[in-house]
Amino acid sequence: MKKNYLILFVLTSLVFFNCSKDKGPVDDQQTAENISFTNDVQPVFDQYCISCHPASGDLDLTASHSYNQLVNVNASGYQAKRVVPGDPENSVLYKKIDGSGTFGSNMPLGGSLSAAQILLIKQWIEEGAPNN
Ligand code: HEC
Repeated sequence: MKKNYLILFVLTSLVFFNCSKDKGPVDDQQTAENISFTNDVQPVFDQYCISCHPASGDLDLTASHSYNQLVNVNASGYQAKRVVPGDPENSVLYKKIDGSGTFGSNMPLGGSLSAAQILLIKQWIEEGAPNN
């Protein structure tokens, strides 16, 4: 009987230990680091932006061109960079979708992205705007 209690105690401790390991800020950060420019950000451009920002335009947001048009590139209409890696608050791209009006009209012109899409682009910039 005593042996059974001991086994039960060991098992309970293991379950407890595992559960507490699964939670916490470290895991939250890992989730946030998984944004892919190609798989997560570009589809937003494809759906909401390229109708007005096509391959022939001043700001080309089509796949395989958009990254080089954005990251560390000066905006054509504003005295700021389109995307400053790690700094969404100083990135024209982010300030033009966040509803702030810092750089003129909100994008997509005449509408807005969902809160989740806005956050996605913000997090991609915060993560250093990788070409991934
Ligand atoms: C209905 C047309 C239209 C759509 C859709 C649209 N834009 Fe624009 N965009 C414009 C126009 C016009 C300008 C130039 C005037 C201005 O800066 O507001 C512009 C300017 C911009 C600029 C500033 C470029 C610079 O260098 O000055 C950014 C960044 C931008 N758009 C991003 C986006 C993004 C991201 C989307 C999709 C979420 C989008 N736009 C969708 C019409 C549009």
